[in-house]
Amino acid sequence: MRAKIAIAISGGIAAYKIPNLVRLFVKSGCEVKVVVSKNALNFVTETTLRTLSCNPVYSDMFSNNGSATEHISLADWADAFVVAPATADVIGKYANAIADDCLTTTLLAFDKTVFLAPAMNTKMYNNKGVQENLQTLIHRGVKLIEPVSGELACGASGNGRMAEPEQIFREVERHFESSGLLCGKTVCVTAGPTYEQIDPVRFIGNNSSGKMGIAIAENLAAKGARVLLICGPSNVKTNNPLIERTDVSSALQMYEAATAAFERSDAAILSAAVADYTPKNVFSQKVKKVDAALTIELVQTKDILATLGKMKSPKQALVGFALETNNEFENAKAKLEKKNLDFIVLNSLRDKNACFGYDTNKVTIIDAKGQTITTDLKSKAEIAEEIVLKLISVMQEKEK
Ligand code: CTP
Repeated sequence: MRAKIAIAISGGIAAYKIPNLVRLFVKSGCEVKVVVSKNALNFVTETTLRTLSCNPVYSDMFSNNGSATEHISLADWADAFVVAPATADVIGKYANAIADDCLTTTLLAFDKTVFLAPAMNTKMYNNKGVQENLQTLIHRGVKLIEPVSGELACGASGNGRMAEPEQIFREVERHFESSGLLCGKTVCVTAGPTYEQIDPVRFIGNNSSGKMGIAIAENLAAKGARVLLICGPSNVKTNNPLIERTDVSSALQMYEAATAAFERSDAAILSAAVADYTPKNVFSQKVKKVDAALTIELVQTKDILATLGKMKSPKQALVGFALETNNEFENAKAKLEKKNLDFIVLNSLRDKNACFGYDTNKVTIIDAKGQTITTDLKSKAEIAEEIVLKLISVMQEKEK
């Protein structure tokens, strides 16, 4: 691995294991720079870290190599940031954007991938505030390297022991191995709801937030893909410059943008909640209330996914979503076959805290060979990772 890794050590007893983590990264060919909190230096010495990393150790905002903006240069320099051990204190500060020392200031100035390896007493780890802070960070894309169960420094036994340096190293290595997997590939993604206009001020819409599709687009771009994102009305922002976003409103506009984008794509993931019906005629003036019922005639929209299924060449991969309330598996399987998909992602409205509007989701992936994967309830960023890894395996299969 040839990455530049910043390791942040906060003040927990597990800090004594970090020199070993520094060695693992250096041995694998990485450049390493270490930033420590004041308390971390109670558990590990600056001399050890400097010697093993072959770089100065960052500990003080105002005396680091004579420059008061050294923390910004460190944040710009690193490809990934590993916070290990991450104490409750540093997790709380990071989640709330508090920067009161060299470590937390550098962390806030860093905008690439952050790995967090918490270490603390079980009761502290289970504390609602700590868990909420962790959830906040996970939803912002921070990668959690979960602590394990075992003997803790306080003498008790339970969850909260920092993952071993070998495991932390492997997770970071896995991230870099997959980060270039989609270089040179173009993937079309649809996301969000559609709005079907009734008159100049009213429309038929749905509750889709666009969060799932945008998490997929971000994940694809993080792995090097050029992403043609076609997004219905959504407040969710996109960050990666590899994402070319086209904002649309109606099902027809999404259809036109998606069919054009698919011609230039190696794969497509259609996660948008597209209206199945649209008003036959749009009133040119605002509809006035009268003392009678109002009937609006609706006509079917074009099915974008089914159209792409017909356009699809053997080399292109196509993924759809299915939102079901009953007979979930059978309905999803029928959609997979009817629309000529490589796999389908099933959302059930019966799962709590999943689907529309939530930051979490729980899905079942069903592929054309009948293989299924059911995930736990996870952040949409983590679900996106599972979907994208499945897409990569399908694309690799097609290249054989
Ligand atoms: N879809 C689409 N264009 C449409 C309708 C749906 O591209 N006009 C796509 C969705 O983006 C999703 C998949 O089709 O990937 C399934 O959507 P869903 O609403 O679950 O199914 P429908 O085929 O519309 O069937 P139904 O609503 O009857 O369940």
